[in-house]
Amino acid sequence: MPYSTSGNREEHTANLGLIPQPVEMRTAPGVFTITPQTPLVATGEALAEARMAQDTLAPAMGFRLPLIEGDGPRNGAIVWLLDETLTELGDEGYRLDVTTEGVVIRAPKRAGLFFGLQTMRQLLPPAIFRQARVEGIEWTLPCVSITDYPRFQWRGLMVDPARHFIPKSALLRFIDVMALHKFNTLQLHLTDDQGWRIEIRKYPKLTEIGAWRDETLIGNLLHDTPHKFDGRPHGGYYTQDDIREIVRYAADRHVTVVPEIEMPGHARAAIASYPELGCNPDQRLSVRTIWGVCQDIFNPSDETIAFLQDVLVEVMELFPSTFIHIGGDEAVKDQWKASESVQARIRELGLEDEEELQSWFIRQMDDFLTRHGRRLIGWDEILQGGLAPGATVMSWRGMDGGIAAARKGHDVVMAPTSHTYFDYYQGPPEDEPLAWGGLLPLETVYDFEPIPEELDKEQSRHILGAQGQLWGEYIPDERQLEYMAYPRACALAEVVWSPKEGRDYDGFRQRLERHLERLKVLDVNYRPLDPASR
Ligand code: ACM
Repeated sequence: MPYSTSGNREEHTANLGLIPQPVEMRTAPGVFTITPQTPLVATGEALAEARMAQDTLAPAMGFRLPLIEGDGPRNGAIVWLLDETLTELGDEGYRLDVTTEGVVIRAPKRAGLFFGLQTMRQLLPPAIFRQARVEGIEWTLPCVSITDYPRFQWRGLMVDPARHFIPKSALLRFIDVMALHKFNTLQLHLTDDQGWRIEIRKYPKLTEIGAWRDETLIGNLLHDTPHKFDGRPHGGYYTQDDIREIVRYAADRHVTVVPEIEMPGHARAAIASYPELGCNPDQRLSVRTIWGVCQDIFNPSDETIAFLQDVLVEVMELFPSTFIHIGGDEAVKDQWKASESVQARIRELGLEDEEELQSWFIRQMDDFLTRHGRRLIGWDEILQGGLAPGATVMSWRGMDGGIAAARKGHDVVMAPTSHTYFDYYQGPPEDEPLAWGGLLPLETVYDFEPIPEELDKEQSRHILGAQGQLWGEYIPDERQLEYMAYPRACALAEVVWSPKEGRDYDGFRQRLERHLERLKVLDVNYRPLDPASR
């Protein structure tokens, strides 16, 4: 079968509306049509991915494709091949060949087969995303030859169930839509001033007390004053069995869930549960009902360190992720400055000041996680007072923290407010639902370049990838979560997956218009596109 290589790549991909854009793609005339008799063929570990394909395609097709154990191409079939010799495709790459005779998906690792399936779903009519049998449709795939692999290994989104609890069912759906865009990392911001959202067996009060607040601020923290509250209790948490389910569900879709346990700041819900963890143990605090940076901070006693490490033990049992996020941002030091016992602790440890104390605090966690075979990641404030030896930095206050960390030989995930804060407005605030502030239009996300010019080639290797943040203060429910995430996450998916050289906003927009047909069928509550400016 001669493949057409005429015309530019953008023209071909624009026609198919693939997001993220594959590394290489050639189209050819003709289609392959999937019928109830089309077998899925796989063997060994590839069988699990073929089963995922079977399950994924069945609802809309209204039939389960027969699964045959075997290997090697065969006519009329969809063949799933694990081939370790295809090392140039990396851990997540794949090749997808569709001819009029059949389909072959090859990858060196299981993840590649899964991402190949995601491309295949996008090549089918958008009706494939329906959840019940669609009548009168031909399930055709256009003839293509695709070679595809990601640019970055960390392709993340972060959600914040601490500010508004995200029900498990919504999280599972969120993972499904992420995986469709070939994201592979979901950071769960599990603890904050306004709620503690993970069951810890050793410390039940964290969820008996810390998972519930009396009421919630109405309107924008900064602009809607005097403050009003809704008078309605809010809360919820994931049991350990819920967490196991979420982690397994994500792993089946080759998404790693990275848990975040905030320290030493953003600790109010924990301190409300166990006042001895705070700097004023005689004070009774409630779980916070208002947004913004809070003064309450963990005290740096041996007991608090032991408490947090106990929490991390249970977290590590639940989350196989190599990276464990310990927050580290916005730790206001006023209470440390005012506390005699904390000042005595600083002297006892031979430290210079509160910044060094924060660094010491993080180091206790870094040592602990490293001893357990894990890696610490934290927001860029963990650079203050000296970076812990094993730490990876998530750069949010611009790129500078990430640049400094990479220069020191530390790994970095880029998550700057300027390009990845999906809690910012997507258009003029007067036309948009209430949000935190800021402005982050789709095109700005698309223009993001995670590797700063300041870094040389060797240092650039430390940029693991990038992540979009969905802070939850103004995201009260699943519909709003999707509205803030999409289509900006489509743009970010392309930034972290597709080659830098092929970046072209106009082409992306044309593909996105096709792609939104899929999201419509999935009932993803994406923000509508602005009219095209060109
Ligand atoms: C952050 O936005 N405080 C990481």
